[in-house]
Order: sequence, then C-alpha cells, then structure tokens
Amino acid sequence: MTVVVAAFVLAPISAGHAADGRAIVLNGSASGAQHCESCHGLTGQGIPANGYPRLAGLDADYLVHQLNSFADGSRASSMMSPVAKGLSPEDRRAVADYYARQSPPQVTDQAADSPEAATRGRALATVGMGAKGLPACNQCHGPNGEGVGDAFPRLAGQS
Ligand code: HEC
Ligand code: HEC
Repeated sequence: MTVVVAAFVLAPISAGHAADGRAIVLNGSASGAQHCESCHGLTGQGIPANGYPRLAGLDADYLVHQLNSFADGSRASSMMSPVAKGLSPEDRRAVADYYARQSPPQVTDQAADSPEAATRGRALATVGMGAKGLPACNQCHGPNGEGVGDAFPRLAGQS
C-alpha cells in the first residue's frame, strides 16, 4: 500500500524536472552554463594536456557533490564555478548521471617521470608515509585507486 502511494506522489514530480544530461553536455544549460563537451568531451574523457579532468565513470553522487561545491565556493575553480552556478539542481543530477554512465578508460602503465618517482608513488599509494602520519592513498581510494562509493573518487586513469 505504501509503495503504491509513494509512486503515485513521486511520478509527476520527477517528470516535471526531467533534464537531459546529454543535451547539457552538448549544448549547455538553459540558465547559461557552458557546454561541458568542449573541455570534458562527449564521453567524459577530458583533455589531459589542458588539465581538464576525465569524468567518465566517476560516481554520480560524487559528481553532484563536486558541482555543488563549485557552485557554493567550497571548491575553488575560476573555470568551473560559473559553469556550476549555471546549472540547476536537476541539471547537475542529469549531467552527473550522464557522465557516470560513460566507461572509464582502460588503465595502462604510463611512463613515469623516472623509476624513482614510480617507486615513490607506488609506496605512497599502497603503504603511505608513517613518518608524516600519511595513510596509504588506496586506503580511501580503493585497492587499485578504483574509488569507493560516492565519497572517495576513482583516481586510476585520471590524468
Ligand atoms: C572551459 C572548460 C570547462 C568547461 C566548459 C567545463 N569544465 Fe568542468 N572542469 C574544468 C576544469 C579545469 C576542472 C578542474 C578544476 C579544478 O582544478 O579543481 C573541471 C572539473 C570538473 C568537475 C570535478 C571533477 C572531479 O573529478 O572532481 C566536474 C564534476 C565538472 N568539471 C563538471 C563539468 C560539467 C558538468 C560541465 C558542463 C555543464 C563542465 N564541467 C564544463 C573545465 C571545464
Ligand atoms: C582519509 C581518506 C583519504 C586518503 C588517505 C586520501 N584521499 Fe584523496 N580524497 C579523499 C576524498 C574524500 C576526496 C574527495 C574530496 C571532495 O569531495 O572534495 C579525495 C579526492 C582526491 C583527489 C581529487 C580527485 C578528483 O577527481 O577531483 C585526488 C587527486 C586525491 N584525492 C589524491 C589522493 C592521493 C594522491 C592520496 C595519497 C597520497 C590520497 N588522495 C589520500 C580521501 C582520501
């Protein structure tokens, strides 16, 4: 009985707020956000050379949280703050769902700056640095940096 009532009440609300994530990525939002595609790509691959991050396959709730943070100023970015402010809450949810559905890239061994850097990076990721009280990155970001839930983002394959 409860389920029937809930569905009846919720259906018209969600229909009224339907935003098309793919359309926002391609064309921007009605309230003036720039189209995401020019920086993050249609499939969320990003542009590493420009410092535009990959969004493909990141958790949808994580993405919404970042957009909210850019909009309220708790995460500072002169590029993303005006974009996030131009997205309604429904728009943010729609683009987040869209990018979360895209496949994350295959992680291949990328050339490190030096063998020393590769060794140090691996140690930080898997062991941390006890002397500075720094836990292993993977304790929060997952065994292979694949992310955990909606709070700890995937780092594997990020530029
Ligand atoms: C002009 C380029 C540009 C455009 C257009 C742009 N972004 Fe970004 N975006 C960036 C940059 C640069 C960053 C990294 C900001 C930082 O260094 O904190 C970023 C970061 C993000 C992040 C945080 C990713 C993470 O892993 O924490 C999200 C989410 C995001 N953008 C979503 C969007 C969405 C959605 C749109 C379209 C409505 C969009 N962006 C349009 C440049 C852009
Ligand atoms: C105690 C848990 C914890 C540990 C340990 C940790 N992180 Fe994080 N990290 C987080 C959380 C939570 C976020 C997301 C913050 C937010 O929502 O703004 C994050 C975000 C990041 C981001 C931004 C990713 C993006 O998509 O924008 C990077 C890069 C990152 N961490 C790298 C590291 C590295 C490198 C280490 C190890 C030296 C590390 N983290 C250790 C919890 C942790």
